[in-house]
Amino acid sequence: MRPGTPELVVGLYSKRYGLGRHDTQNVCVLCIEVKATVRAGKVAVITGGNSGIGLASARRYVSRGARVAILGRDPTTVEAAVAELGDAAVGVVGDVRNLQDIDRLYDTVKREFGSIDFWFVNAGVAKMRPLEAVDEEHFDHLFAVNVKGAYFTVQRGLPLLNDGGTIVLNTSITNQLGIPSLGVYSATKAATAE
Ligand SMILES: NC(=O)c1ccc[n+]([C@@H]2O[C@H](COP(=O)([O-])OP(=O)(O)OC[C@H]3O[C@@H](n4cnc5c(N)ncnc54)[C@H](OP(=O)(O)O)[C@@H]3O)[C@@H](O)[C@H]2O)c1
Repeated sequence: MRPGTPELVVGLYSKRYGLGRHDTQNVCVLCIEVKATVRAGKVAVITGGNSGIGLASARRYVSRGARVAILGRDPTTVEAAVAELGDAAVGVVGDVRNLQDIDRLYDTVKREFGSIDFWFVNAGVAKMRPLEAVDEEHFDHLFAVNVKGAYFTVQRGLPLLNDGGTIVLNTSITNQLGIPSLGVYSATKAATAE
């Protein structure tokens, strides 16, 4: 494996999304856990680093000696995550739908760490809704976070990325599988797949 290449481990999250009556019973959602080659002294940025996969990744990177910057909307969980992660972590409260919030994240990264070695573009929403119940708000919300947010998270921070740096977009197995009630989500994850 080349240095800087993420090592991908597939985990199984059974019924992770609380499947409803419109969904196939016993569907399992495949989830990708990113075990990146993040080493001591490296700087990682994790959107959605205040919970779930993002926080688990932040813990792993810090345990390997990396410094991490996390972004999330919820001030309580951002603060709790930074308190848990310790001096190696900084937190920014912000919404990836808002380009000013993304710029604030990178202002903080530049000030605290200087540059970025590893990016985990992870913030996302996975709301389930059957086709006939999807409205404009649902559609726009998922695309704004999962596609627009991911796009500008990368675009706005590129000047800080070191040579040989790594960018990982957290997509989903749903970008290839048809799962009832995940049509809009699947489309957003297909948009962020290679
Ligand atoms: N769990 C799975 O089985 C699975 C499978 C495949 C892919 N994924 C993907 O993995 C990623 C993380 O999912 P998870 O399961 O760890 O879910 P999660 O615990 O709900 O984490 C989602 C994270 O994204 C953040 N977020 C959501 N909307 C945001 C916004 N507008 N601006 C900034 N941050 C925002 C949340 O922060 P706040 O709470 O502060 O909003 C939270 O930290 C998602 O992209 C999801 O699509 C998950």
